[in-house]
Amino acid sequence: MKVVRTKDDLKEELAAPRRDGRIIGLVPTMGSLHAGHLSLLRAARGECDVVVMSLFVNPAQFGPDEDLAGYPRDLEHDIELATAAGADLLYSPADAEVYPEGFATAVTVSGLTEVLCGDPARRGPEHFRGVTTIVAKLLNLVGPDVAYFGQKDAQQAVVIRRMVEDLDFPVRIEVMPTVREPDGLAMSSRNAYLAPGDRERAPGIHRALNAAAAAARAGSTAADALAAARAELDSAGIEPEYLEARDAIDLTPIETFNGRPALIAVAARVGDARLIDNVVVESTQRPERQEQR
Ligand code: PAJ
Repeated sequence: MKVVRTKDDLKEELAAPRRDGRIIGLVPTMGSLHAGHLSLLRAARGECDVVVMSLFVNPAQFGPDEDLAGYPRDLEHDIELATAAGADLLYSPADAEVYPEGFATAVTVSGLTEVLCGDPARRGPEHFRGVTTIVAKLLNLVGPDVAYFGQKDAQQAVVIRRMVEDLDFPVRIEVMPTVREPDGLAMSSRNAYLAPGDRERAPGIHRALNAAAAAARAGSTAADALAAARAELDSAGIEPEYLEARDAIDLTPIETFNGRPALIAVAARVGDARLIDNVVVESTQRPERQEQR
């Protein structure tokens, strides 16, 4: 795997494959790689001729009270892991390369970024503005045919799909399933912040989502499904920042599960870590097409 730090080197590396019509895949990351990131790289390896990973801890998506300075960083280890997972090229720019003096532009996706994590009382829409701005830049710099994201960050994936559609980025977005620890905890770079006792409590989030999904599939209302989840969180001693059921595509709130796919999403602080997780419940109603047969 080749490592490049500048746009010019990135462009140079991609010129020949692009000219030859090779399929380019992009996996944007902030490093501190775990099995979730590696699943995206493997998916890209399976579908693309050239696999590019970006590694940039993007200051624009961290709030002033968030963990930018302490965000786990281990470039050497990440290089080993990305190489083993089949990446061809790592783009790891410096802050000043991405946001040079005078940088004054942002990409904003309205509505979708103002709920769940984007609620102004939580991370706020500025977080997603930071994400969409960097992802737009990476899409322009790399020019991939396919870009890979994780379902773990469900709202981020919804927002990026919206941006790509609205701004006509010529890229296909692939969203890959959440990779979990054996006890159900979703893999996250921020799991490193969990003290041993908190690490033991944290899988309560996954149990809560499973309880909600089971209730939904059994015909419960959203309120009842969320109550089932809440009971699991309570028994793990976890107070959610939010626990909500929303349409999985447009993030509008839902009250029942008999329509389109539903996203049940949770954010919770467990010790020093702010964790997010979600489950998607597909429609519990049989499609009309089948009923007519
Ligand atoms: P980061 O948190 O490093 O995640 C990079 C990618 O890995 C994202 O698409 C994320 O959804 C995915 N991912 C994280 N944990 C996962 C898991 N357990 N299973 C599957 N996929 C997982 O998300 C970001 O970085 C940034 O916001 C970024 C998109 C790079 C923009 O800065």
